[in-house]
Amino acid sequence: MLTSVVSAFIHSLSLSSDYTTMPPEHQPQNQIKLRILQGNLSALNLAVREFVEANVTLCQPDSLHICDGSDEENRAILAQLEEQGVIKKLTKYENCWLARTDPRDVARVESKTVIVTPDQKDTVPTPLGGGVSQLGRWMSPEEFDKAMVQRFPGCMKGRTMYVIPFSMGPVGSPLSKIGVELTDSPYVVASMRVMTRMGKTVLSALGNDEFVRCLHSVGCPLPLRKPLVNNWPCNPEQTLIAQIPDRRQIISFGSGYGGNSLLGKKCFALRIASRIAKEEGWLAEHMLILGITNPAGEKKYMAAAFPSACGKTNLAMLNPTLPGWKVECVGDDIAWMKFDDKGNLRAINPENGFFGVAPGTSVKTNPNAMATIVKNTIFTNVGETSDGGVYWEGMDQSLPQGITLTSWKNKPWSSEDGEPCAHPNSRFCTPAGQCPIIDPLWESPEGVPIEAIIFGGRRPEGVPLVYEAFSWQHGVFVGAAMRSEATAAAEHKGKVIMHDPFAMRPFFGYNFGQYLSHWLSMANHPGAKLPKIFHVNWFRKSPTAGFLWPGFGDNIRVLDWMFRRVNGEDGAVPSTVGYLPCHNSLNLQGLQFHVDLGELFSLDQKFWQREVEEVRKYLTTQVNDDLPKEVARQLELLQQRVKQM
Ligand SMILES: *[C@@H]1O[C@H](CO)[C@@H](O)[C@H](O)[C@H]1NC(C)=O
Ligand SMILES: *[C@@H]1O[C@H](CO)[C@@H](O)[C@H](O)[C@H]1NC(C)=O
Repeated sequence: MLTSVVSAFIHSLSLSSDYTTMPPEHQPQNQIKLRILQGNLSALNLAVREFVEANVTLCQPDSLHICDGSDEENRAILAQLEEQGVIKKLTKYENCWLARTDPRDVARVESKTVIVTPDQKDTVPTPLGGGVSQLGRWMSPEEFDKAMVQRFPGCMKGRTMYVIPFSMGPVGSPLSKIGVELTDSPYVVASMRVMTRMGKTVLSALGNDEFVRCLHSVGCPLPLRKPLVNNWPCNPEQTLIAQIPDRRQIISFGSGYGGNSLLGKKCFALRIASRIAKEEGWLAEHMLILGITNPAGEKKYMAAAFPSACGKTNLAMLNPTLPGWKVECVGDDIAWMKFDDKGNLRAINPENGFFGVAPGTSVKTNPNAMATIVKNTIFTNVGETSDGGVYWEGMDQSLPQGITLTSWKNKPWSSEDGEPCAHPNSRFCTPAGQCPIIDPLWESPEGVPIEAIIFGGRRPEGVPLVYEAFSWQHGVFVGAAMRSEATAAAEHKGKVIMHDPFAMRPFFGYNFGQYLSHWLSMANHPGAKLPKIFHVNWFRKSPTAGFLWPGFGDNIRVLDWMFRRVNGEDGAVPSTVGYLPCHNSLNLQGLQFHVDLGELFSLDQKFWQREVEEVRKYLTTQVNDDLPKEVARQLELLQQRVKQM
């Protein structure tokens, strides 16, 4: 029982006229008995109230809890989750918890994530010669209505519906946006409290403004038809994550995990927000934001987009090896950027926490993340030590004598098992404010001025450590042409180089061709101080030895070069792909690693011919007639430069 119950009374709701189109067997009962566990429905803003009531009628929960975001409420939710066996206290740390999911619910499911628009063209370009777009999934409104009726009526029976008012961005910032998520998962409530600003203050900030309507159900009404696995309710057969940008709605069913259920993150802050941003003239991007201060005390902010497995969170929290430099973190995943009236591109991190991939995070790769997660953190699907700690692959810590491990599957684990101890997509969900190098302006309502945008990829071959785009338009092309090495789907073996334009491929909220036009149009903003655009590759390998660049804290040497380029310093020479650092302009002082600069920056004509062809094939087949002329022209220019190599 919650300690903070304000009042428990029976509240009657009448049938919403919206449901007259439903088949009779799906029609909700006329009167619904609802126990209010916390909060006052009548005190809600009318639009929020109508949204809640209509969905109560549809989903038929037993009780309602309007979240206030207080510590007391959070403690009660965590205690309840512990009692239900969903989470377990990690006694080694302060207020840290471990959740193990049903093994069928461990990641985002792209195949079940759709954008609903009347016209398919509004969601994805039509691929040349037909076929399925790789740039998003479309669903028609009719098909979606059918899917909704199959899933939602009565889906919360026996459960509590939580109302989560949340702000993406600091409460009250002109760059922020508000959402209200209805969910039947207390795990989602606890996680949303970490990842967003949530509760009472948000409702007061809402006023009469618009909000994004988010509805989430794990899809397991009570009594259960099948026993749960790991006490983790989910419904993988029926999972569907839909965003309806025209109506500013997100509807998610069947999964309790990560971006499928914490609807503020990818669903709102990228898919819905990118559509809003297009309409309102700003950018919602899959980018980290960092502050960087040189030894003279001058500070700049940069934003960077990377596909997965490129060390994005590590860069966001970089520990510089060059003396006198400082990096501070504004955000590790998403940036909302808008020009102010002086032409500065101002960015906020819409999130309030980090939902980071655990495996590979260590004192060596990311000491700041390791220091962040020792309190108030919810871990999901990591391994557990017998002394109440966490464990994962690449943690790089030897276990004390006598300490044993339990895997994410809740089985005793040893390194001979042949399976990982932590799931490869296991996560920490931790408050950003706890990061030792959080930027002093990370919650600034006006945002921080971005002077450089970095695109990157994991490219074992051919792509130099860093290059600078010749122009904004060339930079947009560089973003469109992003490719990165990834572990392919199970049917293929090994690694392949995949296209991931702007690191947004699974997150575009609208047609990628229009997205490119929108990026190009930023150059027309009156008085815009356009950031310089760079491309980096920390992962180039020599054919004979390993990596050509040490990476991690030494990446400051590349940021230092960019910093000076933004300040208008020379130190660059034009090349086929863009400006490269000229001889001696990269600071390699004190580097404990032999760098072969020749090999690191070499450009091979055959490689770049193939690259041009790959990118051409992708853009012509996937973006087809929605490809902006300017992007096609940039491809032509690159091809000509490659010919002249
Ligand atoms: C709930 O809010 C309404 C409207 O603001 C108010 O009249 C009523 O007294 C409140 N009820 C409780 C139990 O606080
Ligand atoms: C229920 O939630 C959805 C999804 O956010 C929302 O759009 C809708 O208006 C609400 N009401 C009904 C009756 O579906």
